[in-house]
Amino acid sequence: MPSELSPIDKAKFVAAKQATQYVEDGMKVGLGSGSTAAWLVKCLGEMVEKEGLKIQGIPTSTRTADLAREVGIDVISLDEAKWLDIAIDGADEYDGNLNLIKGGGGSLLQEKIVATASDQMVVIADASKSVETLGSFPLPIEVVPFGWQTTKTLVEETLIGMDVLGRDVSLRMNGDAPFYTDEGNHILDLHLNRIGNARQLSLVINQIPGIVENGLFIDICDVVVIGHGDGRVEIRDINQGTVEEDRIDFVENDNLFADLND
Ligand code: 5RP
Repeated sequence: MPSELSPIDKAKFVAAKQATQYVEDGMKVGLGSGSTAAWLVKCLGEMVEKEGLKIQGIPTSTRTADLAREVGIDVISLDEAKWLDIAIDGADEYDGNLNLIKGGGGSLLQEKIVATASDQMVVIADASKSVETLGSFPLPIEVVPFGWQTTKTLVEETLIGMDVLGRDVSLRMNGDAPFYTDEGNHILDLHLNRIGNARQLSLVINQIPGIVENGLFIDICDVVVIGHGDGRVEIRDINQGTVEEDRIDFVENDNLFADLND
């Protein structure tokens, strides 16, 4: 493995590389967002260029769309695709039932729409994303800018009745200004520490006017591919109830790595 890659980057790479095995000619592929998904997009781009792989990619963020085009993937919109064969994306946390927290990069809305419109969702992650109970990672929720402070108060009041260990809510910032999602909304990060009933919380949060969507992915993910820094990968399939192991070996001078850490 290239010596300049950190163990965490190696883990992300091998997870992404392993997940390309789910992608076949002719597929419509949802392309996730974040650093792990960026590895996937690069790997798929290389397969398009060197192996003649023919896919259509449906990106979940403008950043991913830019990268996908850059590496030669045919990019189409979700409305053009209508339904996808597979979505492959990263995650901020996954539990034993493959329920997730996503949205650390602020793309949870498009990611959830794309994953839900796919026959299969495969998550790629390093082992640090594994948790027994969701909630250590702050739960992102997407909120419309109109009256967001009132919505925040409603969220705080709602959390009082929920099975969570923390109740701090913060507006995500981009420097000195509020962060805007690709859909022109803000993100509230909910510092809950532990989410006792993620399914219930997801349903309740989405009832609050002004909330567009939350970052809990419940019963959406089918497979998690977990990468390790030494090249090992573990594949957990919730539908088949299987856990398999594999290993990814790759050559040190692979040009995939040239500019991946930007
Ligand atoms: C973006 C996401 C990402 O998938 C999540 O934040 C993981 O990112 P990374 O692969 O960089 O750790 O949900 O909204």
